Amino acid sequence: MSDQTLTIALSKGRIFEDTVPLLEAAGIEPLEDPESSRKLILETSLPNIRLLIIRATDVPTYVQHGAADMGVAGKDVLMEHGGEGIYEPLDLAIARCRLMVAGPKGGRLESRHRLRVATKFVESARAYFSRHGRQVEIIKLYGSMELAPLVGLADCIVDLVDTGGTLRANGLEPWETIAEISSRLIVNKASMKMKAEVVKPLIARLKAAVDKHSTVA
Ligand code: ATP
Ligand code: PRP
Repeated sequence: MSDQTLTIALSKGRIFEDTVPLLEAAGIEPLEDPESSRKLILETSLPNIRLLIIRATDVPTYVQHGAADMGVAGKDVLMEHGGEGIYEPLDLAIARCRLMVAGPKGGRLESRHRLRVATKFVESARAYFSRHGRQVEIIKLYGSMELAPLVGLADCIVDLVDTGGTLRANGLEPWETIAEISSRLIVNKASMKMKAEVVKPLIARLKAAVDKHSTVA
């Protein structure tokens, strides 16, 4: 019989917090909290299931290479990664936000010939502006994108927006929506086949938890 242990990759913070209730509804309880433990591998109430705690942007990489069988990643992160070697069987409907173009209040996308766009979402930004036939210069940043237009580094940004509070606090406004974002369950393609006995029932239990959660919400 094949190995039916399962490794699930999660990131700390909002994804962990929003995924745990779904895991618990599916009968899987983490035995430790990553906020208080320094451990990167967490055991769960099921002896054949363990959790890896990694950076959000690293989740697809671990799953692609089979270092984790499954994971939870934002659609933004998956769009940047490209999805090679990965199935995306379930929208978990958590960590919802939008990937947007944003810039100074009253600004317009048409106002410049060649926009300078600051973002950590380089692939999504490039694809979006290319679909719209806009010539842009992409400036790669790793965070605090909202600062870039304030100090003349860029004309606009591509970033995640939820309440819009971060944009407002920095005198920016949303200009255009690139994509609606939520977190997805992702599965390594080989694990989906080789570990079907544990993977498929778990997907079904998580889907039931998501459906129940969305009818309650
Ligand atoms: P990394 O640690 O790799 O830099 P990160 O800091 O972006 O990643 P989080 O802030 O935990 O990681 O975000 C994880 C995911 O949650 C994002 O990929 C996105 O899908 C979603 N997300 C980010 N910001 C928000 C927000 N303000 N509201 C709702 N969901 C969000
Ligand atoms: C995210 C994102 C925006 C902010 C948007 O940052 O990068 O800055 O949320 O949310 P809002 O529209 O509700 O203000 P986050 O809070 O995750 O900080 P981080 O990216 O620095 O971790």
